[in-house]
Amino acid sequence: MSSNTQPSPSTGYYGRHIFFCLNERKGGEDSCARHDAQAGFDRCKSRVKEAGLSGPGKVRVNKAGCLDRCAGGPVAVVYPEAVWYTFVDKEDIDEIVESHLKNGEVVERLLLPKDVGR
Ligand code: FES
Repeated sequence: MSSNTQPSPSTGYYGRHIFFCLNERKGGEDSCARHDAQAGFDRCKSRVKEAGLSGPGKVRVNKAGCLDRCAGGPVAVVYPEAVWYTFVDKEDIDEIVESHLKNGEVVERLLLPKDVGR
């Protein structure tokens, strides 16, 4: 494990970029907003900031619309690795921040199964 706080596996503006779907689907369909996606986004944003990980060359946390994998919601995806997560609580978010966003280690227990779609 590395304690490097400059996660830069890519040559992009950000070392890692995580997108949280905050979408609410109409018509009674299941969606990330119904599973407290906003709380996960807010937690991630604050943890990344507190850890000094935010900014160019480091980590960016962004809201997203529907990522079309609603059945696994709430979902988030980390680039450049294109690793998809589903999460339940703030401990899950903290682990994604510490393990993946900071140290580049995928959190296997939170991976979204490959066949989950809308
Ligand atoms: S509502 Fe979140 S992926 Fe579609």
